[in-house]
Amino acid sequence: MKISVIGCGYLGAVHAAAMAELGHDVVGIDVDAAKIEQLSQGHPPFYEPGLPEILASAIGSGRLRFSTDMADARGSRVHFVAVGTPQQQGSNAADVSYVDAAVTALAPHLSAGDLVVGKSTVPVGTAGRLAALIDASGSGASLAWNPEFLREGFAVQDTVKPDRLVYGVRALPLAEEVPLVEEGSTKEAPSRNQLGAAGFETAASRASSTSGNHPDVDTLNEVYAAAVASGTPLVITDYATAELVKVSANAFLATKISFINAMAEIAEVTGADVTQLADAIGFDTRIGRRFLNAGVGFGGGCLPKDIRAFTARAEELGRGQSVAFLKEVDAINLRRRQRVVDLTVEALGDTVWDKKVAVLGLAFKPHSDDVRDSPALDVAVQLRGLGVNVVATDPQAIANARGRHPQLTYTSSLEAALEGADAVVLVTEWPEFAAIDPVWAASIVRGRVVIDGRNRLDAVAWRAAGWTYKGLGRP
Ligand code: UDX
Repeated sequence: MKISVIGCGYLGAVHAAAMAELGHDVVGIDVDAAKIEQLSQGHPPFYEPGLPEILASAIGSGRLRFSTDMADARGSRVHFVAVGTPQQQGSNAADVSYVDAAVTALAPHLSAGDLVVGKSTVPVGTAGRLAALIDASGSGASLAWNPEFLREGFAVQDTVKPDRLVYGVRALPLAEEVPLVEEGSTKEAPSRNQLGAAGFETAASRASSTSGNHPDVDTLNEVYAAAVASGTPLVITDYATAELVKVSANAFLATKISFINAMAEIAEVTGADVTQLADAIGFDTRIGRRFLNAGVGFGGGCLPKDIRAFTARAEELGRGQSVAFLKEVDAINLRRRQRVVDLTVEALGDTVWDKKVAVLGLAFKPHSDDVRDSPALDVAVQLRGLGVNVVATDPQAIANARGRHPQLTYTSSLEAALEGADAVVLVTEWPEFAAIDPVWAASIVRGRVVIDGRNRLDAVAWRAAGWTYKGLGRP
């Protein structure tokens, strides 16, 4: 299938390459000429394991090309919109101007039968508004909302083999439909929630009664043929639900992390160990152990801004109270960064001036070079602001961190970071940091104090090597 992908950032570049890998004929489009040039050469503008390989093979096969010209979307049957929705300056709300601009620029190039597929994370209600915009263009194209759940660091596998697919599609008028209940049928009449507002049948009801009868569902099933054939769970629904699935999934994950971090705060004043607590409650399959790692908290380009945008949108809808808890989730998360700073200052004996601190990690999580809203970078910057001589290292994120915070000292050498340090702070759990030999590290630092902001070090081994070990939520 001929496919265009509008927006070639973390999401779009991976999506374009993965779609080509699946056999589609893809053009990736972005307004950033430098990014397009890099991608055309097969070089991703960011670190993502597996992406260089599929980019090279897709470009080599002739199935993937990149362009800055929106007219190159012409002739594609499916147009994915994968542009960013960052937090607005001075507000919690999402900035949807890039989505609006992409769809407005795409509209003149659409033809009847084309399907525009939104992948960006947007405030609920955006898809309905964009569908009206596409209708007004008179092209005869339609819109679906197909949220993306990829995790950085696993983006390629999450795109090629997603754990679920969600299609938000437009409701079709009942009159055009195969009746849900045929005459003489013993089947039950459709329940209220199978029927949409104002006499429209929802896509959900169609899917459950006459699967594959919606042209946009058919098109998406063709795009994701491999995933669909392998039995990937598929939820076919309306625009609003599809939009909300994405933000509520991220809100839930953020809440889970802040929940365990709140327990860490309680553990810190009671002498309990939050890591054992997480293991114990995680054995309950209703709770589950994943996303219960207490530490310096969540960051990145999604979770923090998505919970804020969700709060802002709910307030606009008069339902601010329903998600007011997300403000507390955000506050708990930010307090954990402060806690790491406080523990470090305490470890330095409250005199921080000109003391050297090795900050291990800058990316918001391992296997990524992304420093957007990174707790690790935030801790480094706060310590520097207090006058600490911060020397930070990270296997991938130094260039991005330096671009934002040139005032910090960076080194790609772990040894150089540790040498003569008065304290060591681990804030991104890269495997190479978790594997540091505490005996070796003890021999090159000046002060044997380690603050484990991700609870990933073996406290017993570090203490045995003469270190004062401080975890988060651990005695
Ligand atoms: C997230 C969602 O997981 C993904 O589905 C969505 O599409 C985009 O947002 P991502 O931002 O790549 O993906 O990172 P994720 O793996 O979810 O981690 C987010 C943050 O939470 C990281 O800073 C991570 O260090 C932190 N985290 C995660 C914890 O602090 N504790 C945990 O137990 C898990």
